[in-house]
Amino acid sequence: MAQKAGPALTAAPHIPVLLAPIMAAISPVSGVWLDGTFGAGGYSRALLDAGAARVLAVDRDPDVFLRAERWAAQYGERLLMIAGEFGQLDLLAAQHGQSPLDGIVLDIGVSSMQIDQAERGFSFVQDGPLDMRMSQSGTSAADIVNTASETTLADILYQYGEERASRRIARKIVLTRKNAPITTTAALSGLIESCLPRPKPGQVHPATRSFQALRIAVNDELKQLVDGLVAAERALRPGGILAVVTFHSLEDRIVKRFIQARSGAGPRGNRFSPEFEVEVPRFERLTRKAIGPSEEEMNENPRARSAKLRMARRLDAPAGNVDAVDLGLPKIALMVVS
Ligand SMILES: C[S@@+](CC[C@H](N)C(=O)[O-])C[C@H]1O[C@@H](n2cnc3c(N)ncnc32)[C@H](O)[C@@H]1O
Repeated sequence: MAQKAGPALTAAPHIPVLLAPIMAAISPVSGVWLDGTFGAGGYSRALLDAGAARVLAVDRDPDVFLRAERWAAQYGERLLMIAGEFGQLDLLAAQHGQSPLDGIVLDIGVSSMQIDQAERGFSFVQDGPLDMRMSQSGTSAADIVNTASETTLADILYQYGEERASRRIARKIVLTRKNAPITTTAALSGLIESCLPRPKPGQVHPATRSFQALRIAVNDELKQLVDGLVAAERALRPGGILAVVTFHSLEDRIVKRFIQARSGAGPRGNRFSPEFEVEVPRFERLTRKAIGPSEEEMNENPRARSAKLRMARRLDAPAGNVDAVDLGLPKIALMVVS
């Protein structure tokens, strides 16, 4: 049987985003931390170097652990690499006998390595198979593009990508796939370009929003985020820290609402609407406003431009139930897309 090729190790390394403000807020570091989005290991290494006794390094992409082999040995058993989803981080920590946790960091989204590898199918700049699966298993972007109904496709493009031409693009996808399935990133990108006006200088590539939307759908990213936040509430010890970095407004809204609601800072009643029952606070907010990158970081790493960091500290109250829709999870995320 043919061997699967390992990850192309030549892709540009991933530069950790907003690491400085996270480390400034949590240092000195001690105890057991979980890095739910290991990637190139930037956060995990920083935590270990700053004194964490152990880091559970979770990622759903098995390639990241192959890349880390070059440097991980220096940390011995202090670095425990776990293939899995951060939506289940409480179970993963418990399975490895590391519960409760002293801290959790999440740096949501794709890594530069994933985007730069054409064969992973995340990029409209380089042609590759229409894949986009971080975990390299399950439903691919091609599966969704070639089988979802026109309405579902339009909803995905609009709700996850804020693509105003969502209906036009969905209609063209359905017409095109009647002749032959759409199987490459170049084919899909070309189709999207044909539905939209040519971009003016300085505007993003016409396929940007649709590719983002499909990637979010393929990897069920927003549901994972909600599950990860809820799991963090269950997994952290009182006093434990949660730090989450997001890259677009849908994600940041979920994190903001979660921290607000769980710290008892949700909307209060007024004379037009009744007072909300104030939940027992489970977290204390450490960031009232999201922290963004400094000028210097933006110059060094343009990818950091839209990043936002929010942090909270776990309080004593036992974990409770959270309504995902109240947190701003689009309804489409609750449907099984295939
Ligand atoms: C932005 S990168 C993280 C980079 C990392 N902080 C670093 O410094 O190198 C995001 C990583 O999270 C992983 N990921 C995304 N969603 C995930 C999920 N739900 N569960 C586990 N890993 C996930 C991706 O595969 C990717 O490797």
